Amino acid sequence: MIAAMDIRVTKVSKSKINEINFDNLPFGKYFTDHMLEVDYENGEWKTPEIKPYQALSLEPSIAALHYGQAIFEGIKAYKNVNGEAFIFRPEDNFRRFNISADRMQMPAVPEEIFIEGMRRLIEIDKNWIPAKKDYSLYIRPFMFATDNVIGVKPSDTYKFIILLSPTGPYYATPMKIHVEEKYTRATPGGVGFAKNAGNYGASLKAFADAKAEGYDQVLWTDAFEHKWLQEVGTMNVFFIIGNTVITPSLDEGTILEGVTRDSAITVLKEMGLKVEERKISIDELIEAYKAGSFLEVFGTGTAATISPIKELRYRDFHMYFDTATWKISPALKKNLTDIREGNVPDKFGWMVKV
Ligand code: COI
Repeated sequence: MIAAMDIRVTKVSKSKINEINFDNLPFGKYFTDHMLEVDYENGEWKTPEIKPYQALSLEPSIAALHYGQAIFEGIKAYKNVNGEAFIFRPEDNFRRFNISADRMQMPAVPEEIFIEGMRRLIEIDKNWIPAKKDYSLYIRPFMFATDNVIGVKPSDTYKFIILLSPTGPYYATPMKIHVEEKYTRATPGGVGFAKNAGNYGASLKAFADAKAEGYDQVLWTDAFEHKWLQEVGTMNVFFIIGNTVITPSLDEGTILEGVTRDSAITVLKEMGLKVEERKISIDELIEAYKAGSFLEVFGTGTAATISPIKELRYRDFHMYFDTATWKISPALKKNLTDIREGNVPDKFGWMVKV
């Protein structure tokens, strides 16, 4: 438990919760009554404030808008069968946030602000945690540079904010994925492992091109040969070939170290499956598909949870999957959901009580 921290709290006079239809919550569209906001100035973090969700007043010269010094996280909170609120693995996202901060030459956010601030915010808005199956409260911590100087240098001032968004599934149906060869997401030595805003901005052109051809997202390949598989635009990726689950390894620094990725690896091993984190090429997938041993392919992410992929397209070669017949990834999804919703004991210690 983190030490009690001084937080200034101003609550809304009237909640807007009744204006929201909790049976239909598109991802990231609605925000709760409150947000947490903290400024970094003169080398220190100021007192955090929880206040009504509102617009920010910023000058157009702020550094983040010009040079992209901005990072974020995605976390989820759930209610268990007894109506108690829990956050899923916030410590892991906290660690990753500060790894991103370091890569982007930004100050580390103290644990008490990130974790305790988040906990206090959710405590105030806990009625916003949806109860519906596959719904959750999405937590979006982010930080950006606020110096009003248009010179390329690390900012001296920053803003850290946490927003809460009651949300439904990011991908409601099995996905169609295009294997990307023209554009590149990440190279060794770059920022691929960091959750900086620019990684997502830079993905939009490839996403739009894939969408124009009827695909939901791209599967990124390496920058040099465009054959080694990395991750999908919004999630990590797993392949089941024969009795082995394979996911691209993290060692080149070109892949986001997903918390759901790690949870999936842990649960799959617990289910008795062999899991390999290693380099995997598109050629290996095609060979396995032709041999009939490429059984399942799915994405993992906080927003995406476990998202089945029903088609992978590489050039003119299409790999189709009948996701309705799958066994392993649906079982993984169920096992993870059971932990998150408190239907089974939390044996890995992933759930943090609000
Ligand atoms: C998440 O899964 O939380 C993400 O941040 C991915 C996406 C929504 C950008």
